[in-house]
Amino acid sequence: MSDDRLVAVVTGANRGIGKAIVRQLLLQSEKPLIVYLTARSVDRGQKAFDELRREQLRSASDVKMQNNELRFHQLDVASPESIHAFIGYLTLMHGEFSIDVLINNAGGVVKNPDGGGVAAAPSSSATAAAAAAGTADNAGASGRNATTEQPAVGNSVVRACNADTAYRTVQMNYFTAVNMTTLALPHMRDHGRIVFMVTALAHLGIFCGDLPRVLTSDDLSLNGLNIIENGFISSVGKGTYASYGFPPMPFNVAKAGLIAYARILARSAANDPRGLLFAAVCPGYVKTDMTGAFAPLTPDQGAETPVYIALTDNKRLRRHNGGLWKRLKPIKW
Ligand SMILES: NC(=O)c1ccc[n+]([C@@H]2O[C@H](COP(=O)([O-])OP(=O)(O)OC[C@H]3O[C@@H](n4cnc5c(N)ncnc54)[C@H](OP(=O)(O)O)[C@@H]3O)[C@@H](O)[C@H]2O)c1
Repeated sequence: MSDDRLVAVVTGANRGIGKAIVRQLLLQSEKPLIVYLTARSVDRGQKAFDELRREQLRSASDVKMQNNELRFHQLDVASPESIHAFIGYLTLMHGEFSIDVLINNAGGVVKNPDGGGVAAAPSSSATAAAAAAGTADNAGASGRNATTEQPAVGNSVVRACNADTAYRTVQMNYFTAVNMTTLALPHMRDHGRIVFMVTALAHLGIFCGDLPRVLTSDDLSLNGLNIIENGFISSVGKGTYASYGFPPMPFNVAKAGLIAYARILARSAANDPRGLLFAAVCPGYVKTDMTGAFAPLTPDQGAETPVYIALTDNKRLRRHNGGLWKRLKPIKW
């Protein structure tokens, strides 16, 4: 029997915004849909699956909730073997073209041994969380120091930005999503969508020198972008990152890489008959384990824009293919 339901995959979905994205996909998809809640830990993933399944059973009167099916599969996006195994499973279950929606949500802030975040860690934990969450609203007009044209960051940020945290943060947020996307891309169905969870604080104003031009150039390739991200890691190790125009903010540099990657993908898919869509999405400042109690938005509110991109079919999305989105609108990078 043929199964023409949509297939959606959410990475890092055992908690936080990822779990809320799964819930909202189940609640909102008009077309019958199978959602794969994936997580690196089978225990944590199974627990989240059980919780959402109970919610689904409780809302017996909600037709969409009942038409849409929740499944769990283990997926560690830092492991190429795990990605291969998952994609192989999807191909077996749903055929060679098996994915309608991929939401690259897994990611976060690498904690320092003292418990502080390294994304952009100012003096208080509240502002550190805000900086890590990356709401442009919290960033001030441009996030830059008007007199020096250097990103306006404190000494503690610079101290927290060392080679190890730069390496782990860029791996966790940038390279994992690139690997996942590269392996999923050949299996995307017609009109498939790929979303990257980023932060509006990874805006071009945090970079200096030639980097804003290079990052937005139509000539930038994935290989070139990987060189930039690796260059950031090695320049942090040598203490020379500022001379190349990088800020001492690994999380923001990694997420900027994903914003640039969405643009590259949209450009290179222009001649792909499948009509694929790509988007980088800032969820806003959302209360999760990554941020803590001061964040104003709930995970379900943070899920709004990625779910909108996943389920909406309109010309506006196509016009902004590869763009950066926040609060259901395309925004300037
Ligand atoms: N919260 C915000 O305000 C905010 C703002 C801007 C951007 N974002 C981005 O939005 C996304 C979700 O954030 P969040 O606040 O929900 O974070 P969170 O609560 O810390 O959850 C992060 C999720 O990613 C998973 N993960 C990490 N590494 C993984 C790996 N190698 N394989 C599979 N899963 C992995 C975690 O799994 P474990 O439970 O196994 O660790 C967890 O499920 C992240 O990409 C984050 O950078 C969040």
